[in-house]
Amino acid sequence: MTTPVAAIQSVRLDDDNNALVLLDQTLLPNEKVFLKLSTVEEIWDAIYHLKVRGAPAIGIAAAYGIYLGVKQSKAADHAGFLNEFKKVKQYLASSRPTAVNLFWALNRMEDRLQREAGRSIVDIKRALKEEAENIRAEDEKVCLSIGEHALSLLEPGWGLLTHCNAGTIATAKYGTALAPIYLGQERGYDFRVYADETRPLLQGARLTAWELQEAGVGVTLICDNMASIVMKEGKVQAVLVGCDRVAANGDTANKIGTSGVAILAKHYGIPFYVCAPLSTIDLDCAAGDDIPIELRKEEEVSTTWYEKPMAPENVKVYNPAFDVTDHELITAIVTEKGIAYAPFEESLRDLMKEECK
Ligand code: MRU
Repeated sequence: MTTPVAAIQSVRLDDDNNALVLLDQTLLPNEKVFLKLSTVEEIWDAIYHLKVRGAPAIGIAAAYGIYLGVKQSKAADHAGFLNEFKKVKQYLASSRPTAVNLFWALNRMEDRLQREAGRSIVDIKRALKEEAENIRAEDEKVCLSIGEHALSLLEPGWGLLTHCNAGTIATAKYGTALAPIYLGQERGYDFRVYADETRPLLQGARLTAWELQEAGVGVTLICDNMASIVMKEGKVQAVLVGCDRVAANGDTANKIGTSGVAILAKHYGIPFYVCAPLSTIDLDCAAGDDIPIELRKEEEVSTTWYEKPMAPENVKVYNPAFDVTDHELITAIVTEKGIAYAPFEESLRDLMKEECK
């Protein structure tokens, strides 16, 4: 893929300088600033404050974070090293609760550590770096594969609607829900994309509209409450969204507002596709009710991004960052290993079995 945004590496390791390099997503689209973070506290803060965001990107940042967190360890023995590793793991795991990729990546790092247990601490550190780099490199391939599968569901000239940002900066590269749009752009599909602004943190307006415009994709920004009218006017032939966690029954947590879009899509008979790497599928959650939903600070709704408060002082605010889309509203879940259809219990389990082979 050759678009200018595909050239951006929004999460990478600068091992020589013991730093995680992140494109600060809170400053986009106005400033393109790369942060160099060296401490686990800075990395925790970057995840919590959405400087790095999007489920796969959070997982990659956490994998690099845990490596950097133990890289300078002076532990005299393996038990001491493991102890330090577990402390950093627990700390990074407390940064955000919903995206399962965070826990998936941290567990994968611990599995690697356990597999290398018989080696020297220097070798274990080298293996942890390799594992984090693998997680990042694999995500690029995963996203391309999701893009190909999702593109097979779309037709040239279609209008597509997306919510939040599941694009290149939310992953190692290419994105999940935006990957088929980039592939289509290269192949002359001429999609028209409607990007929901995605209140309250405006990932759609600030990030998706920016990414797609940079790539030359025909993108139109709409407020969240305009999704119904563009669907009614026949402007949307499919909805594509990313996700933060898929339960075993296919219920899917994604950015707040996604379930409303799915309900509208069902009403207007528009297919609703969720793009999900297998690392986002959590078979330990039987259904959506088991997915922890992050509650965030009140000021994100009332004051953040505004010059003056946009709500009366001390008004009560409810700010859940995600909602769960019922599996009955989902036409298909597109993974790197193929497309899952209902009944999702079976199709997701089969795809995960494939993965473990
Ligand atoms: O709070 P955010 O911005 O991290 O939420 C992100 C989303 O909801 C994305 O749609 C999801 O993580 C998929 S990113 C490929």
